Amino acid sequence: MRKIQTLKVFSVIGAFLVGFWVPLRLIGYLTDSSVEIMFDLLISLVAGANIYLYFSTTKRSIKDYRSWLNLGLLCDVICLMPLSLFGLLLFNTTYSGLLLFNLLAARHVKHIKSFLDQFDNLQPIVYRLVPIFVMLPILIHLAACAWIGLGSGSAGPDPDKLFEYVKAMYWAFTTLTTVGYGDISAKTMSQMIFTCGVQVIGVGLFGFILSNVAGLLARQDAAREHHMDNLDKIETYMVSHHIPNEMRTKVRSYYHYMWQNKKGYQDHSIIEDLPKKIQSELIFHINKPILEKVPFLKGASRELVEELMNELETRVYVPGERVFKAGDVGDAMYFIHKGQVDILTKDDKLIATLGEGFFFGEMALIFEGPRTAGVVAKQFCDLYVLKKESFAHVCDKYPEFLDHIHKVVQQRAG
Ligand code: CMP
Repeated sequence: MRKIQTLKVFSVIGAFLVGFWVPLRLIGYLTDSSVEIMFDLLISLVAGANIYLYFSTTKRSIKDYRSWLNLGLLCDVICLMPLSLFGLLLFNTTYSGLLLFNLLAARHVKHIKSFLDQFDNLQPIVYRLVPIFVMLPILIHLAACAWIGLGSGSAGPDPDKLFEYVKAMYWAFTTLTTVGYGDISAKTMSQMIFTCGVQVIGVGLFGFILSNVAGLLARQDAAREHHMDNLDKIETYMVSHHIPNEMRTKVRSYYHYMWQNKKGYQDHSIIEDLPKKIQSELIFHINKPILEKVPFLKGASRELVEELMNELETRVYVPGERVFKAGDVGDAMYFIHKGQVDILTKDDKLIATLGEGFFFGEMALIFEGPRTAGVVAKQFCDLYVLKKESFAHVCDKYPEFLDHIHKVVQQRAG
């Protein structure tokens, strides 16, 4: 596997260099014969690496003639041959149209995608942008070299090769991006036709890149987008229903609290597609902060904590919101992660105020009776809810949890 990865990296780098060198060579730059032989060797190696990859990463057999009926493979076989040498033998010069075949080896830059696929922890933006930024310079370079080959338009040939190339790159860039200042323009018919082609490719390509980049930037902060989207919708809703200002302020402060404390996504359905094990690890991680807050949980066994963490659900209450009334049927107990709640009698007299790390709602579950008191959120509250069935399950499995709850109940009742 390591060999395959190395070959892919080699293939991408080699193809990239070939994509730069061959067009330059075709327009008569870098004519040094030692450079030529070096690149000829590099091209043969890139082609050889790709033939190997073709047979080793697919189920194709080298002996099966049908495997060879592949255009890409035939191109590689041609590139495997020392074409400069053939040029020398056939035309008495290393330079020949045969070099065009070598350009075919440059198409292997596309392996950058399968190379990136090997990494399992890259951010999506890397998968999308790296291939674009590897292939784009080759395309601009190709257009620039072709432009020089066609006579460089109104700029004309320049004795300074480097300056001529920079001018052609400038032309290619402004034409591909459809900026087209017009200071360098087509003069001959072939230049005009070529310019039209480059412009058409430019419109499609840069449209594609821009939409991708814009999409990526928007998705980069998906949570904030989601939050802003919710704010916009709720604002429109409140305006269309003529909601009074005081109520609007309440709604906005709820969204503000949610954003400050939860950063957007609340719904666990977002992780539903994940395997159960990863889901429970994630939920454990999300619920972990409550561990720090509840003294009993800090000292509890790992199994009990894990079980509890997987059963807890988070819920947010706004100031003044009733969690339940005295006399209601008890369906859950609550751990306070953030904020404070008031425990009130039936006639709304204050019994106690509970803050971070405390729990409530356990009595109705233990005695299987109605709620002994009502509970109202005093501030914005982050509560972790343990449903009745889960409570029963945890109590059955971990008597130490039940003992602790009993002790607290006795203190409160006494
Ligand atoms: P439950 O009866 O299910 O619902 C009301 C809750 O208020 C109760 O459980 C306890 O958790 C809590 N509670 C009742 N009395 C007190 C008290 N004196 N001090 C703190 N909490 C209490």
